Amino acid sequence: MSFALGPRARSAQYRLVSFDTLNSTNAEALTRLPTGECGQLWLATVHQTAGHGRRQRTWISPSGNLACSVIETLTADHTKAATLGFVAGLALEAALRQVGGDAGLFRLKWPNDVLAGNAKLAGVLIEAKTIPDGLAAVVGMGVNVVAAPEDTPYPATSLKTLGIVTDAETLFSALADAWAEWFAVWDHGLGFETIRTHWLARAAGLGAPIEVRLGERVIGGVFETIDEAGRLVVSYGGGVTTVTAGDVYFGAAMSAGAA
Ligand code: BTN
Repeated sequence: MSFALGPRARSAQYRLVSFDTLNSTNAEALTRLPTGECGQLWLATVHQTAGHGRRQRTWISPSGNLACSVIETLTADHTKAATLGFVAGLALEAALRQVGGDAGLFRLKWPNDVLAGNAKLAGVLIEAKTIPDGLAAVVGMGVNVVAAPEDTPYPATSLKTLGIVTDAETLFSALADAWAEWFAVWDHGLGFETIRTHWLARAAGLGAPIEVRLGERVIGGVFETIDEAGRLVVSYGGGVTTVTAGDVYFGAAMSAGAA
């Protein structure tokens, strides 16, 4: 295991701590906040044993997959901090292209998954905490490099399954550089409109029928756009609604999700 930051991340003053194995890079990042850690720090591992995902789900990350988190101190509030998920999506897409994916292979799925074809390849989890200097955001990213879990609510794939030969360390360097670039564009939320435009250009299912599930509630309609706060805008039967949180299904996965 030899993780290293890319040149862009190094010149932007990021630091890195890496682990052979770790329970969760997000959990480890959160334990460092009370000690005064306020970033810009990356934590990375190729073997995460107790990863967690959105909505208290388990994130399975066997040896060889990439699990990493970056700590950033923000001047933004919690609502703006949530839009960092779109920054992470753009950074992941750029890094994945760099290690060998064809342009257009990777699409971004609201709120912040990366798909390859119709299957999930990467996920993002943001956890934010108030600190004396403002708000500390921990942006966790997991990529299925060598293996993808089976029997997930949404089909999953890995770079290996896609025939892309790389490793977690190579992908991480590209990701740290891409993050430095897109985080600067985001500019503590002031640049979200630019992020939004780029995200929409890579969005999966835009203009197509979707289903959004939030617990027992299901909203069906057409995915119109994301708004200025990153909310999903869905039209249905002459009306429009915005969604702040939920799981999106489309295409074949829509029927599977509804089952
Ligand atoms: C999701 O799709 O539900 C989000 C998954 C986020 C997983 C990453 S792996 C690195 C970081 N550490 C964690 O425990 N979770 C995130």
